[in-house]
Amino acid sequence: MAKMKYDLKRLKRHLRVIRDSIVEKSKGLDFSMMKLTDNHFPKNKSSNYYGYFMTTEDTIHEGLSRVPVNPAESNFLDVGCGKGICLKVACEYGFRKVAGIEFMPDIAAIAKKNMSILKLPAEVFEANALYFDKYADYDVFYFYNPFNATIFKDVIAAIDKSLTERPRTIYVIYTSPTSHQLWMDAGFALVDGYTDQNRGTQVNIYKKSTL
Ligand SMILES: C[S@@+](CC[C@H](N)C(=O)[O-])C[C@H]1O[C@@H](n2cnc3c(N)ncnc32)[C@H](O)[C@@H]1O
Repeated sequence: MAKMKYDLKRLKRHLRVIRDSIVEKSKGLDFSMMKLTDNHFPKNKSSNYYGYFMTTEDTIHEGLSRVPVNPAESNFLDVGCGKGICLKVACEYGFRKVAGIEFMPDIAAIAKKNMSILKLPAEVFEANALYFDKYADYDVFYFYNPFNATIFKDVIAAIDKSLTERPRTIYVIYTSPTSHQLWMDAGFALVDGYTDQNRGTQVNIYKKSTL
């Protein structure tokens, strides 16, 4: 019975991906996980990096609604932004500045095209999160399991350092938080959490302040 329920949920998810990709195509958009090729996965880079999976709009909406900031006075960054669905939602949410980092050139190009078709003011940096030097500009960060602990350790250290460069309160929304302990080790507090209704994945929200 439980397996049947699970299979039905999966089937619904797949049907939704197909429906969304048809709707998107008619507008020239491409956020879905359809039509992914080897060029869209960081296989040749190393196994430290994971490939493209899309957050659903509901999931990121819920995360943003749980973060107690005034979007009009806060900047949002999706680290490993994929095709940019979270940038779209953050723009709709009214964040003052919205950006994403994506290191796979083909995926970054699709994200840029999506933002351009939708006429959204989100910036897409084609860059590796490890070497990104503008973390201090952002207040709310989003991660959907883009890389493993080896990379996360350095990215968390860079974000943590940015709290000294520009003292502020930051929030981190982290879907599928396999590197949860690293945030705790860096002095972030786990302030909230919820289950993504589509995949049943855990989403954690962390906070750290230097004010
Ligand atoms: C699971 S997807 C999430 C995409 C998007 N954030 C979303 O939720 O729809 C992770 C993305 O991170 C990218 N990525 C992985 N390692 C990265 C790195 N070091 N720097 C920038 N992007 C990276 C992958 O190419 C992939 O597109």
